Amino acid sequence: MIIINKVTKQASTILFPVPAVLVTCQSGDSPPNIITIAWTGIMNSSPPMVYIGVQPTRYSYGLIKESGEYVINIPSSDWVRVVDYCGTVSGRTVDKFKEKHLNPVPASFVKPPLINECPVNVECRVKQVISLGSHDVFIAEVLAVHYDENVLDDKERPDLDKIRPIGFGAGEYRLMADILGQHGCSRKE
Ligand SMILES: Cc1cc2nc3c(=O)[nH]c(=O)nc-3n(C[C@H](O)[C@H](O)[C@H](O)COP(=O)(O)O)c2cc1C
Repeated sequence: MIIINKVTKQASTILFPVPAVLVTCQSGDSPPNIITIAWTGIMNSSPPMVYIGVQPTRYSYGLIKESGEYVINIPSSDWVRVVDYCGTVSGRTVDKFKEKHLNPVPASFVKPPLINECPVNVECRVKQVISLGSHDVFIAEVLAVHYDENVLDDKERPDLDKIRPIGFGAGEYRLMADILGQHGCSRKE
């Protein structure tokens, strides 16, 4: 057996790739904003709960804190430049919808709009906020999920080959979609 030596590094947020998503937020009379978020994930199945980690310095932070609402929009790989753009400029100075020619679509339950160009949109209402240090974690219940009809398969399940979600890790954007097997594949060996 060949033993490969491990190289130990200092503690850091290494868990990759993680999804890179576009989160829409809006409060009061302000126009809607978009922030790129990679610190996101699922926390519970029933009720469906998710989270996003947001630094208090972000313009979006105040919008989410005040409204208690956000929408997670899952972009396809074609939109990687928009993901990068929305993660490098601030809504304090730029209207990202206008600048990137994105179309807001009214959500069913929350004020922040869906991004029409993203094939999956997840409406969320904040239930709890936890301050962890650099980021505050907004834990939210999922109120509704919207799919472009052309990314659903013949059984109405999301088809990841069509959605082609973007992963982020080690400073790079990568495709997350390659199939390795079906759930339960270990039992068929
Ligand atoms: C790939 C990527 C992932 C990011 N993930 C997060 C994140 O999870 N949390 C966060 O607070 N900022 C994150 N950022 C930084 C914000 O998106 C960025 O500061 C943005 O310009 C803030 O916009 P705003 O000021 O309009 O809210 C990320 C940026 C990129 C490019």
